[in-house]
Amino acid sequence: MNLKINLLALLVMSCFYPMAQQVNVAKAFELAAKQTHVLIHNVDSARKVRPTLVSPRTVEKGVFKMVNSKDWTSGFFPAELWYFYQYTKDKKWLTLAKKYTEDIKKEQFNKGTHDLGFMIYCPFGNGYRLTKDTAYKGVIIQAAKSLSTRFNAKSGVIKSWDHNGDKWKFPVIIDNMMNLELLFEASKFTNDQSFAKIAISHANTTMRNHFRPDFSSWHVIDYDTLSGNVRNKLTAQGYANESAWARGQAWGLYGYTLCYRYTKNLAYLAQADGIAGFILSNKITPADGIPYWDYNDPAIPNTSRDASAAAIIASSLYELAKYSKQGAEYKAAADKILVSLSTLYISKPGTNYGFLLEHSTGHHPAKSEIDVPINYADYYYLEALLRHQNFKK
Ligand code: GLY
Repeated sequence: MNLKINLLALLVMSCFYPMAQQVNVAKAFELAAKQTHVLIHNVDSARKVRPTLVSPRTVEKGVFKMVNSKDWTSGFFPAELWYFYQYTKDKKWLTLAKKYTEDIKKEQFNKGTHDLGFMIYCPFGNGYRLTKDTAYKGVIIQAAKSLSTRFNAKSGVIKSWDHNGDKWKFPVIIDNMMNLELLFEASKFTNDQSFAKIAISHANTTMRNHFRPDFSSWHVIDYDTLSGNVRNKLTAQGYANESAWARGQAWGLYGYTLCYRYTKNLAYLAQADGIAGFILSNKITPADGIPYWDYNDPAIPNTSRDASAAAIIASSLYELAKYSKQGAEYKAAADKILVSLSTLYISKPGTNYGFLLEHSTGHHPAKSEIDVPINYADYYYLEALLRHQNFKK
């Protein structure tokens, strides 16, 4: 569909945001399960042609895109299958989840990326939580060892990217907060506190350097590993160095919420509250609660939304609501996002190759994955649905 017409339609629809609706987890999961069977069929067909491409990532310009296990998003598809197993308790989903999780296993040894939290912890962490299979635990511990090799004690952070050495020396992106869960869990499994110490150092240093007074965050902080000081504050996926890239704000919110879960350090709770305040008080976001891809894109409202950021925010808020004094406000905001996602942003059955949500933005400045379905939006949408269900319990 023409992007401009699509965006206009979305803006008009979101003005009529269905205020009174409730989240219907059963209906959402039923639809999602049917749609995921379509996705699995497409995955299996694509893998027959190119077996090294193991996981579905997106649909761009009508083309179904698969990725190999090295891609930062490779773990989301098997991790979604674990969520279907958690919800249904049906062995059919267990078999599927186990099967596709195996494809990502070798990345436990990958020392060339910081994304092991996404790639390994999402499938293997959920797999271990639901099965207690000790082999999964071993994969998580090895992945934590691999990730730890990217830690620099002088600057106190884990290096995110090895690429684009002309732009930065030791880049750390806000997304990196999402890898800390893997490290905290590895310490719990092994009683070796070195992983948790790295996570805490990373969280503290990021809290000092990545955030502005209004609790919005830069995307990339470049460190000087000789002095440990900040060299530069930049963006890669946002509109501008000084803008607030929507998914980055979502990663920060999720990251500090999980840091509070593991440490009970009130500074992390205050940080998560601050980020939530930035997101929820931002008047630029339309009534349906789904942010534009960057809060400061001057093209707003004629620019794309990011349903993935919204799904991550909703999932984070359900957890943060349990810890924070603003719990009722967070729960209401998360519910509003979930209603929007499951009514206005959901794929029509059988469309989008089986992906669940439409209207995410991957990398706007690179003109890549703009207004598309994408695997991480679907993963955090399912997680938010489960958290909503458990919240009620
Ligand atoms: N971690 C990359 C992204 O959020 O696009």
